[in-house]
Amino acid sequence: LSKEIAEQPAALRRLVRDGQEEIENLAHAINTSEDVIVTGCGTAGNAALAGTYLFTELCSRTVTMIPASEFRYRSRTLNPNSLVIALSQSGETLDVLDAISDARQRGAKLAAIVNTPMSTLDRAVNTRVLLRAGVEQCVLATKSYTTMLATLLLAAHASTGRWSTGADLVLHAADAIELMLDDGSRDQIREVATRLAKAEHLFVIGRGSHYPSALETALKIKEVSYLHAEGFAAGELKHGVIALVEAGTPCLVLAPDDATRTDTLSGASELRSRGGRIIGVGSTGDAVFDDFIKIPHAGVASTIVESVPGQLLGYFTALARGNDPDRPRNLAKSVTVK
Ligand code: AGP
Repeated sequence: LSKEIAEQPAALRRLVRDGQEEIENLAHAINTSEDVIVTGCGTAGNAALAGTYLFTELCSRTVTMIPASEFRYRSRTLNPNSLVIALSQSGETLDVLDAISDARQRGAKLAAIVNTPMSTLDRAVNTRVLLRAGVEQCVLATKSYTTMLATLLLAAHASTGRWSTGADLVLHAADAIELMLDDGSRDQIREVATRLAKAEHLFVIGRGSHYPSALETALKIKEVSYLHAEGFAAGELKHGVIALVEAGTPCLVLAPDDATRTDTLSGASELRSRGGRIIGVGSTGDAVFDDFIKIPHAGVASTIVESVPGQLLGYFTALARGNDPDRPRNLAKSVTVK
């Protein structure tokens, strides 16, 4: 796990260097389709959801996310003007393959963002982007997630003729991750993880494009440390979840320097006033944070960078709890059953 986390800067740079033609083709398919649906499971589903925010923000395009396991219940309106983009590391996840065959039967155009060349998914579609992240062995998806986000960000830029702006952003994110892995952040994250290891629950909040990051951070932590972690859209907390917060409950708050920050911080204050212990993640500290994980600012690519603290928190919390981060219980790398 630790090795694959460290491979992310190189994977992102490789995607920018070698992926342009495939990503431009995907952008063309998006531009020539009336409606675009993204699908995937687990981490790939979180990347797909992040893509819906990126497309709205970067090219004013509404893209719908359907979790692959739910696809068949929402596929009735697909037609030959629809484009379905399936995201998958393995290219063998049964729910994803079922979604693609459902979409095919309805005449939709098919595309994939996939890490494994010659996988069933790769061979099933007309347009595909290979993630080029290299073999991902660990059950926890890490480099496949950040390269999926980068692919979506690049495709959103390419679809408005701005490949090089997107490329610069991804390269900047790669540098930022490298910096974070080399400077003191790792040790600081380990320290936070030592405290988390003793907790029973963790809530993770973010707004806008950081909401999928909150879901992914929670998934990474629970898969490997078995700590109950849940991600929420920060504004949803007050509609119920806040009832679960009591003295000392750890709450991780994604607070980047963008338009979401002020409202996210006010959510953090609400949590703190109920006794929550606030772990801030962002490039600028705030008085509401009890712990602060500083990450380099990366603009619209900050969703890529902010996923790394979650990966490291999962890793170190697992170690602190005596779990093997490379062999999480009950999980398979690729889920090829219903
Ligand atoms: C991620 O850490 C998970 N182990 C899991 O959610 C995974 O992302 C999901 O099963 C999808 O796999 P795929 O990308 O190979 O389709």
